[in-house]
Amino acid sequence: MKKILVTGGAGFIGSAVVRQFINDTPHGVVNVDKLTYSGNLESLETVSDNSRYRFEKADICDIEAISAIFDRHEPDCIMHLAAESHVDRSISGPLEFMQTNILGTYTLLEASRNYWQKLPEGKRNQFRFHHISTDEVYGSLGDQGYFTEDTPYSPNSPYSASKASSDHLVRAWHHTYGLPVVTTNCSNNYGPYHFPEKLIPLMILNALQGKPLPVYGKGENVRDWLFVEDHARALRLVLEKGRIGETYNVGGRCERSNLDVVNSICAILDELFPGKAPHASLIAFVKDRPGHDFRYAIDASKIERELGWLPQETFESGIRKTVEWYIDNPEWVNHVTSGSYRHWVEEHYGK
Ligand code: NAD
Ligand code: TYD
Repeated sequence: MKKILVTGGAGFIGSAVVRQFINDTPHGVVNVDKLTYSGNLESLETVSDNSRYRFEKADICDIEAISAIFDRHEPDCIMHLAAESHVDRSISGPLEFMQTNILGTYTLLEASRNYWQKLPEGKRNQFRFHHISTDEVYGSLGDQGYFTEDTPYSPNSPYSASKASSDHLVRAWHHTYGLPVVTTNCSNNYGPYHFPEKLIPLMILNALQGKPLPVYGKGENVRDWLFVEDHARALRLVLEKGRIGETYNVGGRCERSNLDVVNSICAILDELFPGKAPHASLIAFVKDRPGHDFRYAIDASKIERELGWLPQETFESGIRKTVEWYIDNPEWVNHVTSGSYRHWVEEHYGK
């Protein structure tokens, strides 16, 4: 049994990773999260009473708090997911992205290095720093081609530039100090517990409420969609079996234009609520995002070949599960959208 320190475990992907570790493995988890607007402990309600789960409210930029957590819990490895994650927010206010994604990663690397250097040899050899990143660091594709692990970095948004910076820091801490790192770069995730500022949950919730579905530009931009539980399984596999110093691209080989994604959601809702059909009549084409990357697409052959990973969900099965989850969980949705959840967090854990 290992103890894994997960940063950002109250977020969308982090909470899926934590739930899998507690439900499907004998390992323990220490969830370190600042609980920003996108961190939600209600996403962990099904596992938070488990004796193998611990929560620490902390900012990854706070070296003293993070070092104390290392000393208190003595983790066997780190999975680093905490980040500011929304491209549109990075355009309107980039500062927090630079702080959390770059300085926060730097702080975590330094805390990890100090801790790792003092470990006894057996534990030191087993230690891993797993950095979770995005395919957006590679920039934008045209109609052809795929991102491989050798694609040169070419980030275009403040978000992707901050994630690219963090990837470089992780690489440098391995190269210079020998810290045993692995990095994964994944395509767009979707699924339950996704904060409703991102395309898929926003469209589901707006459509359910009969609100406009704001599609940027002509809706022709393409993303490569992966169900979040498949990503979490890939992350666990890379942590366990990935080669030190390597990066692995993760993607579902599941490209869809934004308009196709929105139409798929509308078709499922038409089937479930025929009285409100056609939901696609709510689609509203709005001003495009500045610097909007045209296409992302992952070549996942390295992780498939070396580690035997394959996604279990198709887009059709995953999007149906996702739509049904949002219909079945109005409480979770109300809390994250109404602000009452934030008050609860502040009462329980302080501001
Ligand atoms: P999210 O926004 O849902 O969750 C981020 C979590 O990090 C939240 O719980 C938040 O409270 C926490 N956090 C933010 N700043 C913090 C700080 N300073 N200290 C401690 N905790 C802090 O994001 P997500 O979609 O779950 O993404 C998780 C990771 O995966 C990110 O690193 C992101 O770059 C990467 N990623 C996301 C996608 C995607 O499609 N969502 C795809 C590839 C990679
Ligand atoms: P998003 O979920 O923000 O992920 P990312 O920008 O990291 O890929 O957006 C996915 C795609 O959907 C992207 O091309 C922008 C587009 N989009 C819209 O058309 N309308 C929206 O309201 C949002 C949030 C995104």
